[in-house]
Amino acid sequence: MLSEKSRPVIEATLPVIAERINDITPDFYQRMFTARPDLMDGMFSRSSQLEGTQPKALAGSIAVFASYILAHPGRYPDEVLSRVAHKHAALGLREEEYPTVYKYLFEAIAANLGDILTPEIAEAWTEVYWLMADALIKLEKGLYAVQANNAMFAPFAIVRREETGENVVVLTLEPANAIAMTDAVAGQYVSIITKAKDGLRQPRQFTLLPSEKNQRRVAIKLDIKGEMTQILHEKKVGDLLELSNPYGDVTLGAFGDSEDQPLYLFSAGIGVTPMIAFLSELAATGSKREVIVVHADRSLTTWPLRDEMTEYVNLIENAQLVSFVEADGEGNFEGRVDISKLGVPAHASAYLCGPLPFMQGVRSQLIEAGVPGTNIQYEIFGPDQWMLHDQARG
Ligand code: FAD
Ligand code: HEM
Repeated sequence: MLSEKSRPVIEATLPVIAERINDITPDFYQRMFTARPDLMDGMFSRSSQLEGTQPKALAGSIAVFASYILAHPGRYPDEVLSRVAHKHAALGLREEEYPTVYKYLFEAIAANLGDILTPEIAEAWTEVYWLMADALIKLEKGLYAVQANNAMFAPFAIVRREETGENVVVLTLEPANAIAMTDAVAGQYVSIITKAKDGLRQPRQFTLLPSEKNQRRVAIKLDIKGEMTQILHEKKVGDLLELSNPYGDVTLGAFGDSEDQPLYLFSAGIGVTPMIAFLSELAATGSKREVIVVHADRSLTTWPLRDEMTEYVNLIENAQLVSFVEADGEGNFEGRVDISKLGVPAHASAYLCGPLPFMQGVRSQLIEAGVPGTNIQYEIFGPDQWMLHDQARG
């Protein structure tokens, strides 16, 4: 808990830190990667740094954490911490690295604030940093402890390669060495590390599709402006990739939704992947839950894994599939998702995955229809700045 000594100092300086955080972060990252270029090899995503989304998410989350603990003494923003801890664990982050981020972040804060930074202010923010770091370290240790092995990454061989939709390749992988595999919970993802063109090892996350117990299966959408999906698309059967254990907290029921709430699964494009995992779990457990699967795509041919999604829907007693397709006459409805066509009840539970504007649009419509924000979960296929802001509002 934040000390009584630090509380007024954080209250007084939070507006300044929050205002300056976007100036502080580039300097922090520059200092850190100059001193520790190895962190870019196998841990940080080069493109997230170039785009600036991840630095903002990391440093911004500390300001979000500070404002949360001021507003809710004795409590932590569990949703934010959980999301970050899962991401960190999927990257094999170890406790020993926390002083590294502390050192370069605080050097950048000192450089930015200049004379404003008194020893008292530095001490109070140091306390906030370590409160958050200790909470993350504890969660990450717990996540590592439940794995079936103690390897952060292990080599897997591609045993099957298939194409689906438009520019999506589905890879099935098996461990290259005898290694115990952790059972994944539907909705979880792995980090896949492979070498970029210049030899730098780069991780990216991919949601796990249903697979045999001794396999991992992922669908990879080619990002024509991206770095690693181009390389992953060139991989052949027999090639090796490094895979993490499964992590991720956007799983069915994890946020307290129950069997008697109708379940709405909204996806667009490659956002189908967690929904297919959920559907396979519902089918495997013989769920009688009312499930409405809503998928949005440009056309039926661009819709990745459409057959697989349809098959799972058919296996679930009370499930139905509704499509919103931009191409004329191809889906149940034309154009973008319009939830007024669906009659969503206020006690529904919803999961969203797809491009950020899609998820923001659907979420706003759901809120307008009376569904509480706490019933709406979403997986973001990139650094999450949106959820951090969302929880801050709570
Ligand atoms: P990156 O190199 O990471 O680039 C991404 C974007 O960054 C580009 O489109 C471009 O706009 C921008 N960018 C890149 N370089 C620069 C630059 N120099 N300057 C400015 N901007 C730049 N993807 C799937 O296909 N299937 C999944 O199941 C899946 N599941 C995911 C689950 C989670 C939890 C997360 C976090 C992500 C998931 N993703 C999934 C997304 C995936 O991890 C990658 O982010 C995505 O595939 C793009 O990777 P990339 O290396 O090709 O692109
Ligand atoms: C990702 C916060 C410490 C490495 C993130 C994200 C946040 C965050 C908010 C984005 C999560 C998302 O994807 O939504 C923090 C906080 C820290 C901390 C508050 C300290 C208190 C560290 C440390 C390291 C680290 C010590 C390693 C040196 C990473 C990496 C990512 C990440 C590699 C993924 C980034 C990417 O995609 O490139 N962190 N982090 N973090 N963090 Fe941390």
